Amino acid sequence: MIRSTLLLLAVASLPVACAPAVVSDPPGAAVQVDATATAHRPPVVSTGLPPTATVPATPTAPPPSPPPTTAPASPTPIATATTVPTPTPDRTILCSQRLPDNGLLTVVTLTYGLSRDFEPAGLVGLSGYLPNDVTLGYPTELRRIVVNPLVDMITTMQAEGMQPVIISGYRSYSAQAIAREKWLEKEPERANILSAPPGFSEHQLGTVVDFGSPELAAIVGQEDIEFHTYFYKTSEGAWLLQHAHEYGFTLSYPREATEITGFFYEPWHYRYVGVEMATFLRDAGISLTEHQLATEPPPCIPD
Ligand code: DAL
Ligand code: ZN
Repeated sequence: MIRSTLLLLAVASLPVACAPAVVSDPPGAAVQVDATATAHRPPVVSTGLPPTATVPATPTAPPPSPPPTTAPASPTPIATATTVPTPTPDRTILCSQRLPDNGLLTVVTLTYGLSRDFEPAGLVGLSGYLPNDVTLGYPTELRRIVVNPLVDMITTMQAEGMQPVIISGYRSYSAQAIAREKWLEKEPERANILSAPPGFSEHQLGTVVDFGSPELAAIVGQEDIEFHTYFYKTSEGAWLLQHAHEYGFTLSYPREATEITGFFYEPWHYRYVGVEMATFLRDAGISLTEHQLATEPPPCIPD
């Protein structure tokens, strides 16, 4: 009993970042959305098809699976991940029972969720690879395959004078449920676009990072701010928009894709998909969600 209570407290204290429940951890932290952001928003792409000529002519043939990413030296070297052939996903299963393989391109949307029992393989704590001034001392976990590219990217950013921080990574189904509850209490009218219900968050895949910037507070004018649309104005946010794909990360919820993703612009939420796919998406000017919904059959049956 004591153990389970402690566990619950530990989970409740984890940063939940773009699941904006992180608002209460650290205390007083807040997620805010730039109300003027829509004024800068280009027309929403609703065709589901890539908008530029750089997209392959046959949308039913997505790019080949990205090769494993090997990164230069990191503080604590880890084994290079290898690509293992995976079985064809069972698309006839209910989404609430869906246990996808460990590929990097699992579709997760507000329609196509994951089982509460799904936990990705190979989760590792970031504290062994990144210093506290980057992890903020949080016990953040990610899949092993993400670690080297992430460390490499952060090392580059630091070398260029930036101070990126990691506010959230893997969130289990139960951690997402806690995050969601907190957000529903704080801003019920916006909870649906800012926070995924448990089972419908990419964070459950263990390949997603929410980044922060020490510049954000001054830009927003709020000392304890952690997440705000103005992250794109920070040095870190602007750099990530330009370079994250070079390290295999893609912005899951771009400003121009809110109708497709179902989520508001989250300039801090990056998903690792490998360099090849991330570069393809950037060149095509589309989100991973848009690409997958246009090129793949439904991954499970919504229930
Ligand atoms: N904030 C994103 C949508 C999540 O909760 O996964
Ligand atoms: Zn996020």
